[in-house]
Amino acid sequence: VQLAHELQKLTNTCQAHLKETTQKDFEGFEKLFSRFINEVGPSVEWDNIQKLHDGAVRKYSELCGPDSSHARDMLNKLVVVKLNGGLGTSMGCQGPKSIIPVRSELTFLDLTVQQIEHLNKQYGCDVPLVLMNSFNTDEDTQKVIRKYQGFQVKTYTFNQSRYPRINKESLMPIAKTCSIESDLEAWYPPGHGDFYQSFKNSGLLQEFINQGKEYVFISNIDNLGATVDLNILNFLLGGDNSGHCEFLMEVTDKTRADVKGGTLIQIIRLRLPPKEHVDDFKSVKTFKIFNTNNLWIKIDAIDQILSEGTMDMEVIINNKTLDNGFNIIQLEQAVGAAIKCFNGSIGINVPRSRFLPVKKTDDLLLVMSNLYNLQYGTLAMSPLRMFDTTPLVKLGPNHFGKVKEFLKRFASIPDMLELDHLTVSGDVTFGKGVVLKGTVIIIANHGDRIDIPPGAILENKIVSGNLRI
Ligand code: UTP
Repeated sequence: VQLAHELQKLTNTCQAHLKETTQKDFEGFEKLFSRFINEVGPSVEWDNIQKLHDGAVRKYSELCGPDSSHARDMLNKLVVVKLNGGLGTSMGCQGPKSIIPVRSELTFLDLTVQQIEHLNKQYGCDVPLVLMNSFNTDEDTQKVIRKYQGFQVKTYTFNQSRYPRINKESLMPIAKTCSIESDLEAWYPPGHGDFYQSFKNSGLLQEFINQGKEYVFISNIDNLGATVDLNILNFLLGGDNSGHCEFLMEVTDKTRADVKGGTLIQIIRLRLPPKEHVDDFKSVKTFKIFNTNNLWIKIDAIDQILSEGTMDMEVIINNKTLDNGFNIIQLEQAVGAAIKCFNGSIGINVPRSRFLPVKKTDDLLLVMSNLYNLQYGTLAMSPLRMFDTTPLVKLGPNHFGKVKEFLKRFASIPDMLELDHLTVSGDVTFGKGVVLKGTVIIIANHGDRIDIPPGAILENKIVSGNLRI
């Protein structure tokens, strides 16, 4: 009751044109909050978890593509959605993450648009691109997407909700007014689970149903491996399975480095594991696969589940300390957690190449290097790389963590075709045309600086101390 009162007070401070959206956002927030308050006990009884049944996760290699006469029709039933609510702060950038240049001056967004335009031109089809923005990313994204006007891709955007952060002790909103400008830190986008309701609220869900679209392919904008895959589309729309699978999650084999992202577990239906069991999840032995967040979902099923009120995703409690020292809670949901609400849900174990996220400058170094070739917005591992795996790269966060700093430290991106492992720490710079092979460790201690000279070939080398040439 007290929360409802506080939310009403905030709504009263809203500018008239924002009132309706704010009320909708607050309705969603109240539902989430009441689940947070009322739900006791674990979201999943860990001991009840069963082994996945045969066929719950299928091999990608068993799928096949559509015959060429059907590809166009199938693609015309598809909508591509990119989750674009996140900022580039973890890589030291301001504004939406999607506008960071990642390869050949092209941003995540540029690459996505190029990919879809290529598809539309190649097959003569009309696959639209939908961006789910947040109040953090919408304004900058709108400015940028103007440049795609002449492209053969229809681009749509909608905004996800804006929820108030709550004080950890009082559990009341920390915002004093509804205005974002006066206190940006008082608000947050509630995770990508917000997609379903916001997509419907925007009117786009209905619009695409009216256009005869059947599936959405959703993925993180920072996953450069999340391209439209005709084999998966054919699995969904062609043959015996046609239309029966309402939710397809692309999973991939885990390595020891993969500790995030969720896996699939089975209680009665497929589920993601709850947060209190993340350590069990991290075990590579127990859970061999993880969710790439590349999801293919039947559009009319989303509409039906929302209308029935049976959309259900676990509440994620995210505790944070703000710059001003306030301890807050933000309640979030993950889009993949809705898998249990859909009929015929399955996982497809896809090649690792479909999961190429750029979370840190470590990843950026890989995607900027000659390990990958770029064609029509798609990055593919260079055939000159002899192994399937990508090198393990660890760059010191202090000197390399921010994109701007990182770029200044490389006169050109080193040749990494034969690299297995690179660790760099401290004040290190790389000259033009450096080649890295095997395991290379470069450590400049505090107060030292190491300049790797142009053209240097470092193979299985440890460089430390003070090297200035
Ligand atoms: P995350 O920052 O959540 O990435 O954003 P993550 O750490 O890999 O987490 P999970 O495991 O996928 O959850 C993933 C994508 O979701 C978008 C981001 O822009 C990014 O593309 N996102 C995230 C939203 O659109 N809205 C949100 O509220 C959160």
